[in-house]
Amino acid sequence: METKKNIIAPSILAADFANLGQEVANVIDAGADWIHFDVMDNHYVPNLTIGPMVCRSLRDFGIKDFIDVHLMIDPVDDLAQEFIKSGADLISFHPEASNHVHRSISAIKEKGCKAGLVFNPATSLNVLDNVLEDLDLVLIMSVNPGFGGQSFIHSSLDKVAKVRQMIDASGKDIRLEIDGGINDETISLASAAGADTFVAGSAIFNTDNYEQTISRLRSKIV
Ligand code: DX5
Ligand code: ZN
Repeated sequence: METKKNIIAPSILAADFANLGQEVANVIDAGADWIHFDVMDNHYVPNLTIGPMVCRSLRDFGIKDFIDVHLMIDPVDDLAQEFIKSGADLISFHPEASNHVHRSISAIKEKGCKAGLVFNPATSLNVLDNVLEDLDLVLIMSVNPGFGGQSFIHSSLDKVAKVRQMIDASGKDIRLEIDGGINDETISLASAAGADTFVAGSAIFNTDNYEQTISRLRSKIV
């Protein structure tokens, strides 16, 4: 895992898909740390996006940066393996979408890929009692998954604070990511609660100057 303290991960869900390779290159040039790659299957969530072929296309286009794949799909395991083959650096999935969470994590890590678990606003953190130390990242959703451009759900901040305590108590190098409704204001709240990795889709891609936007967002991290 990178040692850099805070990470900004633009979600390509809000990018121009007709121009995706260049959009990703532009946002990396503008100072983004990771690329957040949202995968939706019209089953686990009511929307449909992109699969492993698009991840491979970004690699073939020349993108060498860290690709943070957020699977909003059920089932998880087969497509997770396809994403590993297609150049993903980290794969996160929702525990309720896997019948055997520990097995799904192990299958990702065995291939040398990093693994994360994602928690919706109404999903309990209980599973972390058993698998936290196997993870490279915990992702707290601050909206219900499925769409960009939604409003930040403030109760997610309590969850971030709880996971921050758990990670610190574990002594492990586990990143704490937040996803949904991140903007100038909510990035400060999330970082104060303990997040260190920030997904932002519309707040970045819906602006004209990615560099200004990313540096302004970074300046709001406390
Ligand atoms: C929602 C996705 C998010 C989304 C965030 O299901 O997981 O990554 O793209 O978009 P914004 O930043 O617009 O809320
Ligand atoms: Zn996401």
